[in-house]
Amino acid sequence: MADLTPLVITTTGLVGSTLARVLHASGARPEDTYYPAVDTPRGIPVDITSGQSVRSLFEKTRPKTVILSAALTNVEYCQENRDAAYEVNVKGARNVAEACLAFGAKLVFFSSDYVFDGHDGPYSETDVPHPLSVYGETKLAGESLIRDMLADYLIIRTTVVYGYEQMGKNFCYRLINTLKERRRINVPRDQVGTPTYAYNLAQIVADLIDKKRTGIYNVVGRDLVDRYEFSKRVCEVFGLDASLLNAVTTEELRQKAPRPLRAGLRTDKVRRDSSISVMGVDEGLKAFKRELDGKAS
Ligand SMILES: NC(=O)c1ccc[n+]([C@@H]2O[C@H](COP(=O)([O-])OP(=O)(O)OC[C@H]3O[C@@H](n4cnc5c(N)ncnc54)[C@H](OP(=O)(O)O)[C@@H]3O)[C@@H](O)[C@H]2O)c1
Repeated sequence: MADLTPLVITTTGLVGSTLARVLHASGARPEDTYYPAVDTPRGIPVDITSGQSVRSLFEKTRPKTVILSAALTNVEYCQENRDAAYEVNVKGARNVAEACLAFGAKLVFFSSDYVFDGHDGPYSETDVPHPLSVYGETKLAGESLIRDMLADYLIIRTTVVYGYEQMGKNFCYRLINTLKERRRINVPRDQVGTPTYAYNLAQIVADLIDKKRTGIYNVVGRDLVDRYEFSKRVCEVFGLDASLLNAVTTEELRQKAPRPLRAGLRTDKVRRDSSISVMGVDEGLKAFKRELDGKAS
């Protein structure tokens, strides 16, 4: 891999920690960075809502490639805390984009299929966004300001990411833990998407960076499935009892934030431009299981 002098903000969340692992494996050495709220701090603290904090991080690390995975990602929390969502996901993105401009660095920004309304997915990179939720609005606003401010950027849209993470809070982890305790869990059968294995996502993003690609890329799993079908596949791969799954409608979940129902993203562009193959659900889940088994042994 070319000398990228990568900076990952932050290396504590699901996507950021996985990208840091992939970069380390390729010989690049990103510093650990963390949001000061974490329990076990390691590396350099950064709060992206503070321009001063971001500049100080750039001065210490002098990055050539900046991967911004930090965000407020809880869709329900964002819906009820609009100002906080804009503060982190939009002002935070602007602070990082300004620093990239000042230091001449490429910015890799993570966005979501929640920029779409879910009426007629799966979506390609050129489809017109129309977010339904505050979270989706903030991700689209982040994308827009980056496109306006920078020439050298990658906007990576992804969705339903699963994989190893210290906090164990992604959908797949919650599902596995609930079923292991033999508790029932409601899963919507009308939310269609393209679940994405974090390690595959990180490898593809590292490859796109290495190939000096720019612009918007969908980086998601290859298969379009609804949440109930995905959950059944998780049960098969992890040997869990699928009869504990309650298939419900999104309406029955009474969530605060409207969800894009027929969502998911098309992978034609990334399959053309990256040499890393895009995993389907079964391949991704089996790889995730091997990863967890490896951590346990
Ligand atoms: N995971 C998915 O399914 C998914 C789907 C579509 C798009 N994405 C996008 O992918 C990116 C990464 O998602 P993820 O799943 O890795 O999220 P994550 O696990 O929630 O990680 C986000 C990280 O950002 C940190 N953070 C929050 N506020 C911050 C601030 N002011 N300054 C610095 N760091 C801050 C969080 O710290 P705390 O935990 O301490 O708050 C957390 O460590 C996000 O941009 C997200 O919108 C994710």
